[in-house]
Amino acid sequence: MRVVVTGGLGFIGSHTVVELQQSGFDVVIVDNLSNSSLDVIEGIKRITGRAPVFENIDLRDKEDVRHFFDTYSDVIGVIHFAASKAVGESVEKPLLYYENNLNPLIYLLQALSLKLNANFIFSSSCTVYGQADTLPIGEGAPVKKAESPYGNTKQIGEEIIFDACNVAPQLRAISLRYFNPIGAHPTAEIGELPLGVPQNLVPFITQTAIGLREQLSVFGDDYPTSDGTCIRDYIHVVDLAKAHVVALQRLINEKNESNYEVFNIGTGKGSSVLEVIQSFERISEQKLNYRIAPRRSGDVVAAFADTTKANQILGWSAQSTLDDAIASAWKWEQKVREKRVESNK
Ligand code: NAD
Ligand code: WQD
Repeated sequence: MRVVVTGGLGFIGSHTVVELQQSGFDVVIVDNLSNSSLDVIEGIKRITGRAPVFENIDLRDKEDVRHFFDTYSDVIGVIHFAASKAVGESVEKPLLYYENNLNPLIYLLQALSLKLNANFIFSSSCTVYGQADTLPIGEGAPVKKAESPYGNTKQIGEEIIFDACNVAPQLRAISLRYFNPIGAHPTAEIGELPLGVPQNLVPFITQTAIGLREQLSVFGDDYPTSDGTCIRDYIHVVDLAKAHVVALQRLINEKNESNYEVFNIGTGKGSSVLEVIQSFERISEQKLNYRIAPRRSGDVVAAFADTTKANQILGWSAQSTLDDAIASAWKWEQKVREKRVESNK
């Protein structure tokens, strides 16, 4: 069974391609290399023994999307990761974000709606909840006005899918609302490759420890939490990748009443910024250079998932601990450094 993975060379997409191939699916990756590189295909091949098919397509090109589905008419489903994801950049370049995160989504749904079997999985985000009124956050929690154009593209994206499913019963879709994905494949063959200065906590920690950044700024220690720093639900990217496989299997095998569902994908456990730093120090057996800095604008105080729905309906739950995820991120950062040293020789 052939599955299309858009953005399959990116951080979460590449880990999902590995899990799909290891579960017996054939994968076609569609990616325009705007935030990834072809080396990822080699990494996937080293893990699974198989290189996925790759098509270099920019999904903003409607004709190319249509042509792609003419060529690959037998695909059983699409997992749509391709998007721009930097929250700060989205504030500066809103139209670029609306174009890149919404036009491809519409083109893919239009192409899929013409098919008899149309299964679709969308990368959504816990960002749709903003600061939720109650914790842990269930799927029924209200969607709050987005803090950024990026966050808005996830909210609008979900609405577009909902409306499309309403008029096309053959279209079956799931939105997965990811909490905070971190880590890398335990083999360190694939991982996260942030362009420039990382905006996210874990890559900033590992880049500081490896010597690429001087010091981590902890954004605020005066929040109403146990140690004053913000709380998030950090999920190992491999656990997250596996959630896509079970979601796809549900779409393919189980014809439930509703053709559109939403699931939270997190661990269900909140960790503070200082707890993440302590985990890193424990795993790497070294002290991290950090300082307490002012709060970062737009940060919510605390967010962690109620994962009961995914546990019960998808039969999925996160298996890795925070330490497992941090260990894999650190192993990956060291591997990236080795490659850097090699290529400078
Ligand atoms: P990523 O940037 O590593 O991967 C995205 C991939 O999509 C890249 O390989 C990029 O080259 C490709 N791409 C972008 N625009 C494209 C286009 N127009 N045509 C074809 N390919 C295109 O990002 P990621 O962290 O793997 O995130 C994947 C998805 O998950 C995104 O939709 C993101 O918004 C969502 N998400 C990510 C996080 C996170 O913290 N990483 C959290 C929640 C949701
Ligand atoms: C985690 C915690 C920071 C960096 C973002 C997006 C969200 C989603 C995931 C896609 C916060 C603190 C961070 C640093 C720090 N992406 N921090 N120093 O903010 O939960 O979510 O990524 O959908 O949309 O907004 O993740 O990793 O940026 O921050 O102290 O240098 O670490 O303040 O408390 P966040 P993050």
